[in-house]
Amino acid sequence: MDALSADLPLPAPDDLVGLEQLALELALEAGRLIVDERPADLGVSHTKSTATDVVTVMDQRAQDLLRTRLQAARPHDGFLGEEEGGTSTRSEITWVVDPIDGTVNYLYGIPSYAVSVAAVVGDPSQPGAWRPVAGAVVNPVTAQAFHARLGGGAWLRVGDGPDTQLALADPPQLSQALAGTGFGYDARRRAWQTRVLAGVITQVRDVRRIGSAALDICAVAAGTLDCYFERGLNPWDLAAAWLVLTEAGGRFTGLAGGPPDTAMVVGAAPTLHVALEAVVRAAAEAAGDEQDGVGQAAL
Ligand code: IPD
Ligand code: CA
Repeated sequence: MDALSADLPLPAPDDLVGLEQLALELALEAGRLIVDERPADLGVSHTKSTATDVVTVMDQRAQDLLRTRLQAARPHDGFLGEEEGGTSTRSEITWVVDPIDGTVNYLYGIPSYAVSVAAVVGDPSQPGAWRPVAGAVVNPVTAQAFHARLGGGAWLRVGDGPDTQLALADPPQLSQALAGTGFGYDARRRAWQTRVLAGVITQVRDVRRIGSAALDICAVAAGTLDCYFERGLNPWDLAAAWLVLTEAGGRFTGLAGGPPDTAMVVGAAPTLHVALEAVVRAAAEAAGDEQDGVGQAAL
């Protein structure tokens, strides 16, 4: 636990069980919605930060479903979602949800997208002032459901199968590690990210850009990626997956031991985390300012 979030109030163990169950149940239900009710003519409903940062009708419908269910089950809790409509908390809990993480994959029919539902304590709008205490990440196409609660381990359920506990194996050396990463929607950020990527890709086995940060981070917990780094994530992208990875024995931080934040996150088993963080930090320092080095053609 990092110093900033060390003194946050934590729910009692029995309450954590209920929060994890609710997160899993709702992520599964929203997952069924986005698969079963996907319109044949699905298109972009509107865009957000840039012309490629898209929202479909199903992003908003899935978020509305999650908010309605959570309000009914836990009316005093706060709500923060990727799409419109949030409420502040009157309890110790805020729900941080991404109704579809990997919206571009969803739009294109690439089966790597997820619903992410997390219960957090503290203020998720302040880096370092919050932490997840229970959560679930569900890929509704593969029927993989990752879930965790603080102190309760990380678990993977596939379809109606049993829960299998996730525990990180001894990681490879950095030079043998398969790293996941992702890119933002803004051309200047992507130019900066490619400069960082150039400094990292020569130090690792290879890099994957799968398209859902939540699934990437859970993949590290499940051992189908060795490590992960990315700039520009929001709390809803990472809240549930952060807990899945740390409960599986991994480390998930910002740079230089700081809390995960939009500047950068790094996730891996502890020894690999040390090596990857050093390489990512050096590459980020060498990459300079995000606003520099972008040709007009890229804008
Ligand atoms: C995006 C995905 C992607 C990551 C981006 C996120 P969205 O979330 O997680 O993998 O690289 O940084 O914004 O927009 O699909 O919910
Ligand atoms: Ca997302």
